[in-house]
Amino acid sequence: MEADHKLKLLFLCLLMTITIPALKANIGDFDEEWEADRKKPKSLRKRPTKPEPLHITTHLNRQVHRLQNPIDACWRCDPNWDQDRQKLADCALGFGHETTGGKGGRIYTVTDPSDDNVLEPDEGTLRWAVIQPEPLWIIFKDDMKIELKEELMVTSNKTIDARGCNVHIEGGAQITLQYVQNIIICNLHVRDTVSKEGGMVRGLDGSLWTTYSQRW
Ligand SMILES: *[C@@H]1O[C@H](CO)[C@@H](O)[C@H](O)[C@H]1NC(C)=O
Repeated sequence: MEADHKLKLLFLCLLMTITIPALKANIGDFDEEWEADRKKPKSLRKRPTKPEPLHITTHLNRQVHRLQNPIDACWRCDPNWDQDRQKLADCALGFGHETTGGKGGRIYTVTDPSDDNVLEPDEGTLRWAVIQPEPLWIIFKDDMKIELKEELMVTSNKTIDARGCNVHIEGGAQITLQYVQNIIICNLHVRDTVSKEGGMVRGLDGSLWTTYSQRW
């Protein structure tokens, strides 16, 4: 047992002695000018003595490792997140950071998991909600499994917010986001879906359009 432990320690030390010079060598190779500069007396140095880029990337990596998914961390840390669901829009990061989804619009609750009428969706279904012309913040009454009969064409300025419920889009068609803007989809489980022809989908304003789909 003892010997085994010592062996492990030795191995670790060896690994470190190999790794540390290799790391330094890398920096040297990467920036010879900086290495040369570092050897000069302090008053003649052009650059700071610390390898700052390394510091910066290390700091960034630490943040990313700590938070895992910073968007989830943004709302999960607030125990009352469900009191103001639209605050989620402020959590957007990266290229989507200006996305507001259905923020400012009504909250609409999906109560009906069926998708029996694609052309004239029943009120209470997800399909009805996503074709409304106004911005909507769509939430779900309960856990549900929704089997889409045709592609679900989501229109602009919508949030599909499944937080707090276990909502599965499963076994049927997929969600299509095409020629639309400003959509947030959160905590929705999409699984075992198959690509289907878009077919004909009618919006409430009476306009008709056909789809070939770009799948999500
Ligand atoms: C979405 O909302 C933005 C901002 O309110 C508005 O300018 C835009 O016209 C809306 N898009 C659609 C398709 O309604």
